[in-house]
Amino acid sequence: MDFPSYYNRLVFLVSGWIEEECAEREGVSLLDDVAGYCLSAGGKRFRPVAALAAGDLVGVSVEWLKPICLALEYIHTFSLIHDDLPALDNDDVRRGRPTAHRQFGEGPALLAGDLLFTEAFKILADMDVPPSARIKLVELVAGASRDLCHGQMLDISASARQGATLADVKLRHQKKTGALIEASVLAPTCLLGEEELRRFQPSLEKYARHLGLLFQIVDDILDRIGTEEEMGRSPGSDQRRATPTYLTVLGEQQARELAEHSAEEARSALRPFGERAAFLEWLIDFVLQRNG
Ligand code: IPE
Ligand code: IPE
Ligand code: MG
Ligand code: MG
Ligand code: MG
Repeated sequence: MDFPSYYNRLVFLVSGWIEEECAEREGVSLLDDVAGYCLSAGGKRFRPVAALAAGDLVGVSVEWLKPICLALEYIHTFSLIHDDLPALDNDDVRRGRPTAHRQFGEGPALLAGDLLFTEAFKILADMDVPPSARIKLVELVAGASRDLCHGQMLDISASARQGATLADVKLRHQKKTGALIEASVLAPTCLLGEEELRRFQPSLEKYARHLGLLFQIVDDILDRIGTEEEMGRSPGSDQRRATPTYLTVLGEQQARELAEHSAEEARSALRPFGERAAFLEWLIDFVLQRNG
């Protein structure tokens, strides 16, 4: 299969769902317009694509995956809006456009983040699935969001502290970025019965954990060597804020080796699924080789 084209098809599908939602909120209020501006700017849609890929492996229908994908992208977009604020990274460009606070001001940006964060849970709570599955989904995504907030807090405290260790960086990255990616891969398993869950969960958990960490190691590398044109945001943000990253702790060469190691661990987790997990395996290389 041509995986790059397949990935693009899934992005098109997810972006179509998001556009439908944005069209409904257009002109309803300034806040809805700000949220729509951030959501429709694009991005890789990596978390929804990861959920669709895992959902396909475990046999969950697209009808059920759609709200999960929307909720994940809403939470991710909320985290980007807040991450860019002057109180955190103070960045001017996101997804190739002025950041929400540069375009609309800090108040609307802050509130648009709040809106997306809240709506994500409403989407999950409204799903037409058995209540037990809804509770599991809300619990999983809420746990990941809680980790994300803790990770971001560690991030803003890290710049001020001296002497970060590899363990500090790993914990912070696992929380701020890894947790939501892990939840994206695991979300479809909330809709499985006990027996299927036992079959899929341990391997998917291991895959998701390494994929999430890999994602942020590569993000750190791109922050050093990437270009604004390819990333749609300005590189150099970590250095400007003197945030310890994999690169500052290990250097670029060793950070790349660690990325390769995480990729290999993620690949090994998929072995029990054989060819059926080929697209999930390709996603590892997508993350490793991405330049944006
Ligand atoms: C950027 O995420 C922020 C991190 C958590 C590392 P992405 O690289 O997935 O951003 P988009 O969604 O493609 O814009
Ligand atoms: C962001 O990490 C993690 C989030 C929870 C948004 P970064 O601050 O490194 O993300 P970028 O580089 O701005 O996209
Ligand atoms: Mg940040
Ligand atoms: Mg940032
Ligand atoms: Mg970064």
